[in-house]
Amino acid sequence: MRIGVVGLGYVGLVTAAVLASRGNPVTGVDVDVSRIQTLKRGKSPFFEPQLDERIRNARSNIEFSEDYSKLSNCEVIFLCVPTPNTDNRIDLRYVMAASDEIKKYSASADLVIKSTVLPGTARKVSELTGMNVVSNPEFTREGSAVHDTEKPDRIVIGGKYVERVRKIWEFTGSPIIVTTNENAELIKYASNAFLAVKISFINQIADLCERIPETDVNVVAEGMGLDRRIGREFLKAGLGYGGSCFPKDTVAVSSFAKQMGVDLSIVDSAIQYNDNRVPFLVERMEENLGTLNGKRVCVLGLSFKDNTDDLRESRSLMIIENLKRHGAIVKAYDPVVRNIDTIDLYDDLSKCVSASEIVITATEWKDFSDIDTSILKGKKVFDLRRVFDPKKVEIALGVGIGKN
Ligand code: UDX
Repeated sequence: MRIGVVGLGYVGLVTAAVLASRGNPVTGVDVDVSRIQTLKRGKSPFFEPQLDERIRNARSNIEFSEDYSKLSNCEVIFLCVPTPNTDNRIDLRYVMAASDEIKKYSASADLVIKSTVLPGTARKVSELTGMNVVSNPEFTREGSAVHDTEKPDRIVIGGKYVERVRKIWEFTGSPIIVTTNENAELIKYASNAFLAVKISFINQIADLCERIPETDVNVVAEGMGLDRRIGREFLKAGLGYGGSCFPKDTVAVSSFAKQMGVDLSIVDSAIQYNDNRVPFLVERMEENLGTLNGKRVCVLGLSFKDNTDDLRESRSLMIIENLKRHGAIVKAYDPVVRNIDTIDLYDDLSKCVSASEIVITATEWKDFSDIDTSILKGKKVFDLRRVFDPKKVEIALGVGIGKN
């Protein structure tokens, strides 16, 4: 099937590369000319495991362009443009602008919205374009986006005429839910809001553990998670959730509910707690040290989570900013992020640690749990992502560890 993809960020580029590597001829369009140039050179504009390999394998099936007219003979076009918030509300300007362009060249194609949009958006896009609009929200996590696209837990497809889209994803063998556009749109928000609530919940349980000797939130989470009604995933206590989706989507769905006069206060609490998480942990560290002023601190990890170089809504950057405000002298190390002018960034982990008296884990990279822990000797370790084994490393403050 001839497929178009508009918007070549984490979602769009992975969708394009995976579908092309499955033998579909794919045209990827993005308005960012420098991104298109990078892709034409066969390179991915960001770090995502397995993506380069998929792009390389699919080279003969995939073309990249900034020109929407190249989509003219596509049967199905995936819309993967950003949906940021403006004044705490979803901003649909990119969705509408891209849909308008697509309609000019490919009015008979199915227009498939992968971007995260509130219920009612597919209907609006259909009114604007007159096209058959299908909702097919993505559930891909950065860092495992290729895997999540090829082997998702489920595929949600909303709309009246969905057969072509269903056929495209059949290769995954995953359960497919076919429903209304509105259900599909809401499934995405309800899922992300629920996962955000789960994270804030376990972080509050971690706070409770820290007041009870002989407790460890990781053990509590494991014991909870083995109950299949709860599930083990997304019960990892830490610095709170960041990234391009959860912070934005929880705020958007909360303001949507308010507009509808509906109480979504569980989500509001999760947001509020998450917003306070970094200042709360910095205060805990200051209590432990007496003062942060003048202390040499090494922060391990800069991206919003492991296996990505994405810095959007990174808790690590927030903690660095907060530490600096408290007078700390901050250095950082990250396995993939380079070139941030505002941070004293080391390209060698052990040098960064040796130059510091305090070590903070801010991202859960495996590189950190694998380090030779002897380099941590004599350092104050604040394990905010629970990277180290507390039996092997003396921890000054480990999230969710109840000390005697
Ligand atoms: C998320 C959703 O998982 C995905 O389905 C959606 O489509 C896009 O948004 P992503 O933002 O890439 O994916 O990362 P995810 O793995 O969900 O993590 C989000 C944040 O929550 C990260 O900051 C992560 O560190 C944090 N997190 C996650 C926890 O603190 N604890 C957990 O147990 C899980």
